[in-house]
Amino acid sequence: MKKHLVIFAGLAFSLSSCASNKIEPPREKPLTFNPQGYTTGTITVEGKPINYRAWENISYAANPVNTNHTAWQKMNIYVPEAAYNDSTAPILLKNAVGGYMPSDPEKIDALSREGRTGIMQAALAKGYVVVSPGARGRTSQEVYVPGNNPFSPPAEAGGPYIGKAPAAIVDLKAAVRYLRYNDALMPGSAEKIISDGTSAGGALSALLGGAGNNPLYEPYLKAIGAAPARDDIFAVIAFCPITDLEHADMSYEWLYGGLNNIRKKSSLPPPGQPGGGNPRGSGRPDGSGANQNALPGFNDPEKALSAELALLFPAYLDSLGLRRPDGKPLTAGSGADGTYIDYLSSFVIRSAQEAYNTSNEKDVFKAAFPWLKFDNANIAGLNFQEYLAYVMSRQPLKSVPAFDSMGVLDGAVSGENDVFGTRDIAALNFTEAGWQKNPVNTGTLPADIKDRVYLMNAMNFIGAADTDTAPNWYIRHGTIDRDTAFTVSVNLYTKLQNRGFTVDYKLAWEKPHSGDYDLDEVFAWIAKL
Ligand code: DHB
Repeated sequence: MKKHLVIFAGLAFSLSSCASNKIEPPREKPLTFNPQGYTTGTITVEGKPINYRAWENISYAANPVNTNHTAWQKMNIYVPEAAYNDSTAPILLKNAVGGYMPSDPEKIDALSREGRTGIMQAALAKGYVVVSPGARGRTSQEVYVPGNNPFSPPAEAGGPYIGKAPAAIVDLKAAVRYLRYNDALMPGSAEKIISDGTSAGGALSALLGGAGNNPLYEPYLKAIGAAPARDDIFAVIAFCPITDLEHADMSYEWLYGGLNNIRKKSSLPPPGQPGGGNPRGSGRPDGSGANQNALPGFNDPEKALSAELALLFPAYLDSLGLRRPDGKPLTAGSGADGTYIDYLSSFVIRSAQEAYNTSNEKDVFKAAFPWLKFDNANIAGLNFQEYLAYVMSRQPLKSVPAFDSMGVLDGAVSGENDVFGTRDIAALNFTEAGWQKNPVNTGTLPADIKDRVYLMNAMNFIGAADTDTAPNWYIRHGTIDRDTAFTVSVNLYTKLQNRGFTVDYKLAWEKPHSGDYDLDEVFAWIAKL
């Protein structure tokens, strides 16, 4: 019935517009870039003034979600003078996602997580076009109270949730489609989009590059009125990507479970409060020194759960069928044969060796990291368990389970549980193990959740059929970053490498959970592409 009415209305409209020669008002073209719609500005980057044109709050979705906080589906575009007439300049697409929270488009003066020169400014100074897309996130709701911080909505913010998975990746893909749809009208080249993000934003950057043009996202893109264009990209920069969420708990316990006799409970927020993620300024104790000692240790049920989750990891690793770059198969094995542990160690050793080579105080370096095995100036090996204990000494490890924790051993709601809620439910379990261990759930993990978890993981799409994975990758994870097991980024790197993609992967020496560091190295890498 409804369909009939629509067809009839359309017919009536076309008949009447034929009959009366009325002048139609100018058609709104919601997704067409307006080259004239800019403001100008100047920003000083490392002492050098850069003139730029800015297009701010540009909608990239023709049918945006229903909310009064419209910034989530808008983007800011900055073009340096050097690129005003350059249709070949690369486009740096820097997402501002942290903790899987909603993000507004950032301004050009945004600083890095470490409070240094932001990557957007640095890219502008290099003559690149810079784009900062907003995106929906796990706490996005229809009603947002203006004046309140969109990153931690107040209690009175309400209405349905509109940013649960896969909303964030859908929005970033829509932003890419906008850039490609308007390529001829815009400075820069949409064939040279370089995506950057950190942590949850790193996971989304990897997913954006991993899952280019995959048809599974099509219905979601259609729903928000994304531009009819491709969404594959040229390159990915991913700092400490919190990805592979469906395997994050087993990876974490496989890696860190050996420390359970001395492992402390994490400083996760109290039950019922989302925040297992670590969005900026979440107020978590830093875990150094006395702070960490004040935390209680694991009890027996927690140790048993950790062991149970860890046992799931070897089969998962085997299922990936990964090979070392030298062709040797990677299996978790049963301990001492340790191809995989040797492989993991090799990344730590390489990072340590580079840092040692450039250190001015070599004796101090050797004394500070007694778990490294030196053979004169060469690092010949490391004590892997002591290295992991060192990571823990810098910041307490997460609880068990680290990610899908809601209701498991009475665990709190994590940021990730919050990612996989629905329009009406804030948070849900999202792994088979978590689902079954939370007493409020029945049966097995529902297909709807499974499907949405799948759509959030870059690992599922690298080199897949009907997918255009980005050809170039730069991935970093800090050697003291315990927010997810570094097996996650090692496996991401290895899968990409095995499938023939070009990857620059390193563990960043003594870096905690952080991003957009070493910008000289980042831009040297981009220049090489
Ligand atoms: C982030 C950190 C986490 O520990 C996590 O689980 C998810 C996201 C972040 O910093 O974005």
